[in-house]
Amino acid sequence: GISQQAQGVPLAAASAAVQPSGKLTILYASQTGNAKGVAETLKAQADAAGVAAELFNVADYKVKQLKKETHVLIVTSTNGEGEPPDDAIEFHKQLKTGKVGKLEGLHYGILALGDSSYEFFCQTGKDFDDYLAKAGATRLLERIDCDVDYEGAAEGWSKSALGLLKDALQVEAANQALPAVATQGVASLYTKKHPFAAELVTNQKITGRDSDKDIRHIEISLEGSGLTYQPGDALGVWFSNDEALVDALLAQVGVAADAKVKVDDELLSIREALIHHYELTQGYAGFVQAYAELSGAKKLQKLVEDKAALREYCAGHQILDIVREKKTKLTAEQLQGVLRRLTPRLYSIASAQAEVEEEVHLTVGVVRYDNKGEPRAGGASSFLADRLAEGGQVRVFVEHNDNFRLPADDNTPVIMVGPGTGIAPFRAFMQEREARDAEGKNWLFFGNPHFTQDFLYQLEWQRYVKSGLLSRISLAFSRDQADKVYVQHKLRQQGAEVYAWLEQGAHFYVCGDANKMAKDVHEALIELVAEHGNKSREQAEEYVDALRSAKRYQRDVY
Ligand code: 2AM
Repeated sequence: GISQQAQGVPLAAASAAVQPSGKLTILYASQTGNAKGVAETLKAQADAAGVAAELFNVADYKVKQLKKETHVLIVTSTNGEGEPPDDAIEFHKQLKTGKVGKLEGLHYGILALGDSSYEFFCQTGKDFDDYLAKAGATRLLERIDCDVDYEGAAEGWSKSALGLLKDALQVEAANQALPAVATQGVASLYTKKHPFAAELVTNQKITGRDSDKDIRHIEISLEGSGLTYQPGDALGVWFSNDEALVDALLAQVGVAADAKVKVDDELLSIREALIHHYELTQGYAGFVQAYAELSGAKKLQKLVEDKAALREYCAGHQILDIVREKKTKLTAEQLQGVLRRLTPRLYSIASAQAEVEEEVHLTVGVVRYDNKGEPRAGGASSFLADRLAEGGQVRVFVEHNDNFRLPADDNTPVIMVGPGTGIAPFRAFMQEREARDAEGKNWLFFGNPHFTQDFLYQLEWQRYVKSGLLSRISLAFSRDQADKVYVQHKLRQQGAEVYAWLEQGAHFYVCGDANKMAKDVHEALIELVAEHGNKSREQAEEYVDALRSAKRYQRDVY
């Protein structure tokens, strides 16, 4: 962030006259960097408003310290299954067990980030709110639970919080007139809000003709952008919707394509607005609920009451499919009002700059399914695979992920579990380790349906095995035999060896499906630690927790 000094504001200004009755501490718990970004913005705004604030990652903050605080704002995200971000595991645990004791002198506010398509939406924020209230702390303002399009809501909440704090901390009027500052000390000019228009260089299908999957190897040029990334980072990809899909939706709800709507103070045709600014390819709870009310559709009204069923329904139904449940005429404003803003998709980067320089590679699984006989496709993946010609432009930015990093020490062994498109960051890891001449051993677990159709980047892995860079490769082609074989089966089979690597200090990485695979792999890991480490279940869980806290067990799951 930008310090007060960099803004030319004397550091002493805030404490010049009236002694404030307390100070503000901002804590963040971030997995992919969104919560960190919001917290940094909040800190810069607090500085600008003359509210003396300190900013900490909760990983670097002692829970005991809360006893001494008067005002704390917490910005936290939630992992897929309602778990805290890796950095916040310890903080969460200590608050949960009530070890910190009474916090009656504390005023707090919580901004929770999440994704409403998950069952445990914003759970970590809810937990913190709950634990702090139980400890006797007072809410400065209500918690806000933000969805994936969190920016507007986060801005509003931050403003309210700082308004309340200015009163509470008796900030001098003279300090309040400072201009709002640009936030986040980002190195490149290009960000989520101001993405780089990059050229698509290559779009190559890397699954076989007879595969059930359509997986693309995508190469994008970052030339001239100044954008840099590290293995483990993700690329944010903005996209536009399929025009035919937009036209079908407009026809279904009886809205004229040229009806004018306002988007960010710009007057656009509803057709343009839907192509570029609204989410159409993902069903979401908020839309189902709003349309259930507008249309009176019984089926949708019932769905709204069953979270699990709703989530499953949303996964297989786009906006067009939902409005087809019951024909209802909408106005352009009604339609716009119930839709969510389009958000970019994040893809784990599959290359290392040490190898590809100003390019960035992705491994994109194209989401394709049928709905009542009509083909449906994922928004960003079909944009990259079907609608964008090589040489065409795609707007991108880099999303840094410090929670998915190669060991700093090149001698440390690495175990990588990446079935399906989960392979992506491990291609980056191996490119990086090769470029660095890293001596540490590397072991890849990969799985996909069929050896002949779905062995992603097969030649590259074979080359790495030959050169010795890849010490071991364990493959699980799930449908090449009668019984399903998955990566976790391979992990269990090789349990003794996996445990030996862990004891040698190996880092353990998992990338790919969060719903099933990552859970099953987690379970397999605990079991193999118990078995080969001669530990009780509880001890094995502690061992695995300790791996996570030490950042030796990192996950990039979606
Ligand atoms: P399947 O589709 O044959 O069931 C990448 O998608 C690979 O992950 C596929 O081989 C897929 O197998 C497999 N897979 C499916 N469910 C899984 C699970 N729970 N754990 C690990 N791999 C799984």
